[in-house]
Amino acid sequence: MKKENFFENKKILITGGAGFIGSNLAHILTSLNAHVTIVDSLIPEYGGNLFNIKGIEKQTALNISDVRDAYSMRYLVQGHELLFNLAGQTSHMDSMQDPFTDLEINSRSQLSILEACRKYNPDIKIIFASTRQIYGTPQYLPVDEKHPLQPVDVNGINKLSGEWYHLLYNNVYGIRSCVLRLTNTIGPRMRIKDARQTFLGIWIRLLLENKAFEVWGGEQLRDFTYVDDCVEAMLMAAADENVNGRVFNLGGDCAISLKNLAQMLVDVNGSGQFICREFPQDRKKIDIGDYYSDYSLIRKTLGWKPRIPLKESLKRTIDFYRENLEHYL
Ligand SMILES: NC(=O)c1ccc[n+]([C@@H]2O[C@H](COP(=O)([O-])OP(=O)(O)OC[C@H]3O[C@@H](n4cnc5c(N)ncnc54)[C@H](O)[C@@H]3O)[C@@H](O)[C@H]2O)c1
Repeated sequence: MKKENFFENKKILITGGAGFIGSNLAHILTSLNAHVTIVDSLIPEYGGNLFNIKGIEKQTALNISDVRDAYSMRYLVQGHELLFNLAGQTSHMDSMQDPFTDLEINSRSQLSILEACRKYNPDIKIIFASTRQIYGTPQYLPVDEKHPLQPVDVNGINKLSGEWYHLLYNNVYGIRSCVLRLTNTIGPRMRIKDARQTFLGIWIRLLLENKAFEVWGGEQLRDFTYVDDCVEAMLMAAADENVNGRVFNLGGDCAISLKNLAQMLVDVNGSGQFICREFPQDRKKIDIGDYYSDYSLIRKTLGWKPRIPLKESLKRTIDFYRENLEHYL
């Protein structure tokens, strides 16, 4: 069935729908005529931003709720056919400084969302946004789904339990769930106020404010998925029953060192400066070194691959923030 037809008139819940990836997903789903309900707590330190859903306010229902509130979630999961479960605390440093909040959101709430589904809407299908962080420091590259799981921070441990609850509820209770392990995702609507969501956010902010940005280390390799490609993977997984109970890596079109990424960003912008410096000690302890994904499993299974090259991803992202910077500061 064509994607257009699959999502048309579907009742869809997106937790974290006012955030970076969730709002891009909401824009695409409303363009496919789905009925979208967004749940987001809009806690200022996280990536939620009402400007992210500008233009689709009339076609979506926004419920400002916290996924930690089991009573709200019990009500909200009802009547929906699909749940894109994206709400999360995303900062690795915050998870070290305030581990219990990360535990509540990324682990305990996931279990209570699944319990709500089991009791009140067992036919719902769930796509869960997991992270490459759960692999920890790569033992080999590129990292495939069989790589050992050895998270190096509290966030990684809690996200790991979040994804395993989904797999368990799929296997034991038949609550259809698919897990996507995202790598660094970039694009319009990400948080750029600070480095809480991604270091690239603060780089872009400083670049557009004509200030030098800092590159820590610089030789580490990373891969990047453009947000539209990430959303495409989520839609493909939602529409396919063969992915239930399974885990897939997403990845980027290339691996690049952070120093070369910084230079590419400056080139795309047409000007700018950056300084390479040593990693701060507290960050070094939870850094994972080089990472890039092997995404051949999802390519084989669903035919997904990243389509937007890195340079084009950076260009589209910078163009968006040049236009909309004031809404993200
Ligand atoms: N962006 C990436 O590079 C990346 C990489 C790996 C995994 N992920 C995962 O993808 C998901 C979406 O990430 P994102 O990059 O869009 O981040 P984001 O911070 O922009 O989105 C998360 C959203 O969840 C909301 N939220 C947080 N706690 C909540 C709570 N208790 N109740 C309700 N809403 C809450 C936030 O307000 C925010 O809008 C997250 O689960 C994240 O762990 C993202």
